[in-house]
Amino acid sequence: MVRLVSQIIFSLATILLATKLSLCHGKTTLNLDHGITFPIFPLRLKSGLGGHYIPETSCSSWRLGVEAHNIIDWKTIPQECEDYVGNYLLGKQYREDSKAVTEEAYKYAKSLNLVGDGKDIWVFDIDETSLSNLPYYAHHGFGVEPYNATAFNEWVDLGIAPPLPESLKLYKKLLGLGIKVVFITGRPESQRDITLNNLKIASYNTFETLIVKNTTEYNGKTAVTYKSSERKKFEENGYRIVGNIGDQWSDILGTNTGNRTFKLPDPMYYIS
Ligand SMILES: *[C@@H]1O[C@H](CO)[C@@H](O)[C@H](O)[C@H]1NC(C)=O
Ligand SMILES: *[C@@H]1O[C@H](CO)[C@@H](O)[C@H](O)[C@H]1NC(C)=O
Ligand SMILES: *[C@@H]1O[C@H](CO)[C@@H](O)[C@H](O)[C@H]1NC(C)=O
Ligand SMILES: [Mg+2]
Repeated sequence: MVRLVSQIIFSLATILLATKLSLCHGKTTLNLDHGITFPIFPLRLKSGLGGHYIPETSCSSWRLGVEAHNIIDWKTIPQECEDYVGNYLLGKQYREDSKAVTEEAYKYAKSLNLVGDGKDIWVFDIDETSLSNLPYYAHHGFGVEPYNATAFNEWVDLGIAPPLPESLKLYKKLLGLGIKVVFITGRPESQRDITLNNLKIASYNTFETLIVKNTTEYNGKTAVTYKSSERKKFEENGYRIVGNIGDQWSDILGTNTGNRTFKLPDPMYYIS
């Protein structure tokens, strides 16, 4: 019993350390390497001491199915996977999975024989790729609650989304290789200014351009159609898309995808 309790305390301490969660005034906060801390609801233990059992295995299979694009067109995460997804995102695995992707991307980028004419570009998506909305989703069940555009846009309009640390590192390294960065986001024209501002405070300072979605032109069109069409415009203008990174399959499917694509983890929502 004593051993069990100390094991639980040890695991908790590990989780707290790994994720920089800190307890203050009874609330847990999240610090995404950006100096800003966000209050987060305390996470429940996975099991034991009166806690109900959470079916970890099936949630991990669900997450794999989502990441592999076997499970598609889903609206919300399974209710029973809320704690699992929350622990994944706030724990060290999300960061490690992201790092595995961005390190592979950099390895590839380094291997390229670039012409150096300023026409090599790398496409970055924004939400859950460059900027993290985890402070918002941590208060909305990590994707359990149906998408609420009003509430989500209120969060976006604050312009304080922190950068995803591994993506920011990749971004800086790509710039160092002489590759230009282009942001293509599903955010609408009305959020262009706040997004530019947010990118700046999140340390994304140097980029070729930010493409936001023209909701008239792409009214009723999928992200795959919109993003393919915008990427095509770059290629028609003589740019070479050497790489493309996003958290959604719709960032990297379609046409003119770029020479290599990289998929970051996102078990919170699905965009077609
Ligand atoms: C969506 O969010 C808005 C703003 O926070 C809130 O007023 C509204 O009740 C929410 N809608 C639903 C269906 O939860
Ligand atoms: C959006 O697309 C419409 C229709 O193609 C066009 O008339 C309008 O000028 C575009 N808006 C912007 C801001 O580019
Ligand atoms: C990169 O993709 C373009 C467009 O599909 C293609 O023409 C080119 O050969 C590719 N380059 C490499 C090095 O694979
Ligand atoms: Mg995204």
